[in-house]
Amino acid sequence: MTSDRTTIPTARPRRVLFNKNFSVTAAQITALEGSGFEVWASHTDAGHGTLAAAPHTFLEPRGLIGDEYAEWLRRACQERGIDALIPGKERELLARHAPAFAQAGTAVLAPASEDTQRLLERKDEFLRGWDASVLPIPRWTTFDSLSSFDAAWDALSERGVRLCVKPARGIYASGFRVLTPEPDLGSFLKGELYQMSHAAAREMFAAPGLPTMLLMHTLEGAERSVDCVAWQGRLIRAVVRRKGPDGQRIEDRPDLVRAAEQIAQAYGLSGIFNFQTKDQSRPGDPARVANMLEINARASGGLRYSMAAGVNFPLLLLRAWEGTLDWDALPPVQTGLNVAEDKVVRVVQPEVAQAVSQEEVAQAPA
Ligand SMILES: Nc1ncnc2c1ncn2[C@@H]1O[C@H](COP(=O)(O)OP(=O)(O)O)[C@@H](O)[C@H]1O
Ligand SMILES: [Mg+2]
Repeated sequence: MTSDRTTIPTARPRRVLFNKNFSVTAAQITALEGSGFEVWASHTDAGHGTLAAAPHTFLEPRGLIGDEYAEWLRRACQERGIDALIPGKERELLARHAPAFAQAGTAVLAPASEDTQRLLERKDEFLRGWDASVLPIPRWTTFDSLSSFDAAWDALSERGVRLCVKPARGIYASGFRVLTPEPDLGSFLKGELYQMSHAAAREMFAAPGLPTMLLMHTLEGAERSVDCVAWQGRLIRAVVRRKGPDGQRIEDRPDLVRAAEQIAQAYGLSGIFNFQTKDQSRPGDPARVANMLEINARASGGLRYSMAAGVNFPLLLLRAWEGTLDWDALPPVQTGLNVAEDKVVRVVQPEVAQAVSQEEVAQAPA
């Protein structure tokens, strides 16, 4: 079988696999119920929520990474007749393996080329290449030692501006701190986790093994997350949500939707992606301008909020892939909504999980 499989109409529904991915993938799987696609999910953890959400599942061996993982996954897809893979684990590398998958009948719906995905993962390289006519960025520089931190501090210090740090490669705000000139006992006792004194930072950054870090001007205004779905550089839909202390608000922001179009085109994105902005707002200055923070070539952890705006992100992607998306009749984005997420509890059955796990892993190549 060749990649013709994707163009010849088949009697059976198309099979789509989400390989190991974050738990928000469960929401995408649920959103595909009744869509006509046959949804599969695989994960190393038999109790994972993505497997609980999917009608068809299999287990991945633990600890398999890189080319070996890609090769194992290609065979797993071929054995099950998977028509399209929405990559999670090793998604950068899987873009490189896409031709081999296609030969075996599986289209890899990679968000971008391997190089582009890696560029987006490195905040220093990304910002260096960023087109500030799309959205401005705050002043920033890099450091990787105490002496380069001190030099960066001197170079970026400005009256009325707080400086912040984060690693060039990070996720979930790991390593992000706003630096205060003096230790701030009040905010410490209030539970403020994202502040650190300049002196404590100097002590920390004297440690060996410091990775490349960014020092930046802190954006003090509202933060937004924009969830997007695109196909081959063309934006399908974008949902802008403003993060607040009491939930999130879906906003009507044509300027940020325009930025989403430009981003999709500039990086040739296909699939679900996300970017984050924060407003620059200075005391006494009423202007609030959204600045670019980062682009993630994957679904955000908060995608569920944006789905509440009436946008079925994975279905739009899959329709674009199979060529059945009606670009002139895209679903409207409902804006002006306040959205909240409720937690649910699920019973995980370890005995069943364990039994399946051993059986599947026994079948997997070493
Ligand atoms: N320059 C900045 N000014 C203010 N807040 C920032 C700045 N950079 C990052 N942050 C905060 O840190 C969080 C994480 O930063 P981000 O660039 O999104 O990295 P990641 O999510 O990959 O860890 C952001 O959501 C934002 O709240
Ligand atoms: Mg982020």
